[in-house]
Amino acid sequence: MNVVPTFAAARDSAAGRVGLVPTMGFLHEGHLSLLEALRPQCDTLVMSLFVNPLQFGPTEDLSRYPRDLERDVTLAASAGADVVFAPDVDEMYPEPPATSVSVADLAFRLDGERRPGHFKGVATVVAKLLAGIQPDIAAFGRKDAQQLAIIRRLVADLSFPTTVVGCPIVREMDGLALSSRNTYLSGDERDAAVALSRGLMAAADAVAEGERDSRALEALALGVMASTDGVEPDYAELASQHDVSRLTELDRSAFLAVAARVGPTRLIDNVHFDWDAGAFGADRGIRLTAPSVLYTVSEEV
Ligand code: PAF
Repeated sequence: MNVVPTFAAARDSAAGRVGLVPTMGFLHEGHLSLLEALRPQCDTLVMSLFVNPLQFGPTEDLSRYPRDLERDVTLAASAGADVVFAPDVDEMYPEPPATSVSVADLAFRLDGERRPGHFKGVATVVAKLLAGIQPDIAAFGRKDAQQLAIIRRLVADLSFPTTVVGCPIVREMDGLALSSRNTYLSGDERDAAVALSRGLMAAADAVAEGERDSRALEALALGVMASTDGVEPDYAELASQHDVSRLTELDRSAFLAVAARVGPTRLIDNVHFDWDAGAFGADRGIRLTAPSVLYTVSEEV
């Protein structure tokens, strides 16, 4: 496997049908599942590792964000990557970018409302990765449901010839959605954090029993979070998968998104409801059957 620091070297290492998995590193099984999803569909599988400063707000955790290149390279190789593209900030942004990508409306709701500029930073770096690596196919996790909708829209609007694939959330054994930010949680916070997924699963059970009213579904998720010590709910909202608009009832493919603070850490999670063949299927994600690699460091990988 090649580890390359420049766009030019990443392109030179890629042949045939190219797959791309963009990440900010500190890999876990969620990232590895994206590599596994693309592996059979491409000749060269590229994973990018870049902690993108543009998507962090002034009070957010850019300097604290976990980084471990050696660990990530070992994990990426084990999941089938051919190339790891690990640029530094000067390669990605030789000058502060005068051009940025803003996906109107979709980016201003939910997390976009609470984290001004975040999705502009995401859309800009994803556009640069798509332009610089020129993948045929790229995979993103459904964990970041709003991000996925925004990326699908930017790819369509800007005519990138890349197929976007959304992959199920990977959850720890008790249901907590995998996120590099889980490493910030203390023991008690880690126990409390499972309330986000418990609330979502309660709502998914209600949908299976026929509930379609968004307020009822949101109240179920909020109720579980609010009744858990140490969890401060921010929102629970049912939104369209297509344009992230708020739905009053579940009448098309949607996701129920939640956000909450657990101690100082802000976590998000969701469950997708996919309208298919006249019924809603809930994508509750995939559960690990063993502890996550998230909590292992380089020498243990
Ligand atoms: O989902 C992420 O890890 C990031 O937002 C992404 C898509 C790699 C852009 O920095």
